[in-house]
Amino acid sequence: MNRKNIVAGNWKMNKDYQGGMELISEAVNMIRDERNTDTIAIFATPFIHLSSVSQLIKEEPGIYTAAQNCHQEESGAYTGEISAAMIRSVGASYVIIGHSERRNYFHEDHELLRKKVQQALKHDLIPIFCIGETLEERNAGSHFEVITKQLNESLCHLSPDEFSKIVLAYEPVWAIGTGLTASPEQAQEIHAFIRKEITARFGDLIAAQTSILYGGSCNPQNAASLFSQPDIDGGLIGGASLQSRDFTNIVTAFNPIRK
Ligand code: 13P
Repeated sequence: MNRKNIVAGNWKMNKDYQGGMELISEAVNMIRDERNTDTIAIFATPFIHLSSVSQLIKEEPGIYTAAQNCHQEESGAYTGEISAAMIRSVGASYVIIGHSERRNYFHEDHELLRKKVQQALKHDLIPIFCIGETLEERNAGSHFEVITKQLNESLCHLSPDEFSKIVLAYEPVWAIGTGLTASPEQAQEIHAFIRKEITARFGDLIAAQTSILYGGSCNPQNAASLFSQPDIDGGLIGGASLQSRDFTNIVTAFNPIRK
């Protein structure tokens, strides 16, 4: 079985309800007309859109929804929080966990992220687990160590069966929202390293089947050259996912590649 190519749009805290529904309708129509591969398109919307967007894409092959976060506990007195079970109950299939914005601004550490991954898997949500180094860490030459540590701390306790459900996203923090993209060669180097780390822990087959997405200023101009790298299986897209034309062009960047 080949690994899946995936392009996921992370809307972050953008779009009111009406704006989000317009965006999703346009994007779904374009993707339906223009995508000629089995590339999966995912919309990671704010929580308030998730139920309606999941309904809207329910019958669309290869289009899914994701939450951008979930709480680590099952249920209870956690005012303002959303559980994995709730996310699953509205029809979402994926959840982003460990995004650098959550690690930074909300102080999410590896203990917490482990629990979130466990909750997601328990409720049949596929985690899109984000890892990546800061600019200081890259300049210090410690990016490989940072990646190994992030994998070890939050994912290596999983059973091979559990790990095989995870999608990884390499998002160098210095490339997020900055217009600085990792070059295809820089990204490929890390993606190949990540796959080697997975091989060491979970074996060849699981490593070969794990989708590893690139995120950080990915746009319609650079998507094809990133996605044509052998270990880059798609993208996690921030800013460019807010324009239906741009997001569709990133999804269809796989059209001529067909890995
Ligand atoms: P940008 O594409 O805006 O750089 O954001 C990337 C990202 O953080 C996706 O999760």
